Amino acid sequence: MEKRTIVAMPGDGIGKVVLEECIRLLDAAGFNAEYVHGDIGWDFWCKEGNPLPDRTIELLEKHKIGLFGAITSKPKDKAAAELAPELQNKGLVYYSPIVTMRQKFKMDICKRPCKTFLGNPLNFIRRTADGNFEEPAVDCMIFRQNTEGLYCGIEWSNAPDTIWNALLTHKNFANNFASHPRDEVFISSRILTKKYTERILRAAFDYAKENGHKGITVCEKPNVIRETSGMMLKLAQDIAKKDYPGIAVWDTNIDAQMMWLTKNPETYNVIVASNMFGDILSDGFAGLVGGLGFASSAQFGESGVAVFEPTHGSAPKYADYKTSIVNPIAMFLSACMMLDYIGEKEISQRIQKAIAAVVEEGKVRTYDMMKMRGSEDTVKNGAASTTQMTDAVIAKL
Ligand code: NAI
Ligand code: MG
Repeated sequence: MEKRTIVAMPGDGIGKVVLEECIRLLDAAGFNAEYVHGDIGWDFWCKEGNPLPDRTIELLEKHKIGLFGAITSKPKDKAAAELAPELQNKGLVYYSPIVTMRQKFKMDICKRPCKTFLGNPLNFIRRTADGNFEEPAVDCMIFRQNTEGLYCGIEWSNAPDTIWNALLTHKNFANNFASHPRDEVFISSRILTKKYTERILRAAFDYAKENGHKGITVCEKPNVIRETSGMMLKLAQDIAKKDYPGIAVWDTNIDAQMMWLTKNPETYNVIVASNMFGDILSDGFAGLVGGLGFASSAQFGESGVAVFEPTHGSAPKYADYKTSIVNPIAMFLSACMMLDYIGEKEISQRIQKAIAAVVEEGKVRTYDMMKMRGSEDTVKNGAASTTQMTDAVIAKL
């Protein structure tokens, strides 16, 4: 096996804990890699005025593959107040380093798997018609467009003349918003391009084809958001006809889909959506298969840079515990996505099987899996610590 260099970006809070445990697991699984540390997160915002320093960008440019823990983000004004005194009042504005990283490296494709582990006490259960319960096996890959849509960052409050006047040319704007004082109108735009919509659709089609799924579901709202959602659905249908014969295109509306999550989640195997709807969907699905302790993600794109991270944040309230209690599995599963991406499928499979075995056996469970309230006492009360969970997975390798 060729030795790999991985940019390890722990970030803040529990990101530091779960990434360290993840590297311990990867080492134990025999993944041949060197980890170079990448600075990212709140400390670097406060100390340097930049949560994603250029040196980290250079490391990603050079080595291409990043493992990322989590960061702390705060609203603009709070961020400004926490800057080091010598950096204050210099016009520095806080932007999320995750969003910056996505845009900078055009990591337009985000994959978020939601898969049931047998025996996970957090699995969704459903009442059957005869009053019993059943546990549907969820296995859905969510493809979220990662760079455009509502998160494209093109927003105004108290819009400048050029924007205001342009909007007035649209009759709905003129009819519904023009009468409000301009500084009481807030605008966030949702922009989709054909190019990047096609890329996320094709990623979903390819995945469906490779994994023997019969179709993909486009989850948008084309009846109301006609220009963007409408374009996405039509494009999916056109691409299917041309290049993916035999793979169906189904479509659901985001609102109805969220309701169907608890009705028939096992029906969906591949869902593709624009940025925000994909974000909502993946959290919704994650809730059925164990929540934030199990939700992993991969993001990659044209530049060849790919970053793998759990979807949870830095959980500051647990960050300083002497014995960490958080569940490292989301981070582990993200590392498996990295291994799959770089072609180390055997190690990935072995780690996933080890995780599945630990969960199914049920002897070692972090506090979230025991439905406890998070506190420093959970380990005393029988929950596994982060380290104990890692040890258990390593033992099953
Ligand atoms: P969070 O995901 O950090 O935590 C929410 C709650 O989920 C925690 O209090 C905890 O109860 C639970 N949780 C999270 N990860 C867990 C794990 N591995 N095991 C067990 N339980 C876990 O989200 P929150 O509290 O909204 O945000 C905290 C900070 O993280 C904020 O500054 C936010 O901006 C940032 N954030 C960063 C993200 C990232 O780095 N990708 C994503 C989401 C939030
Ligand atoms: Mg989210």
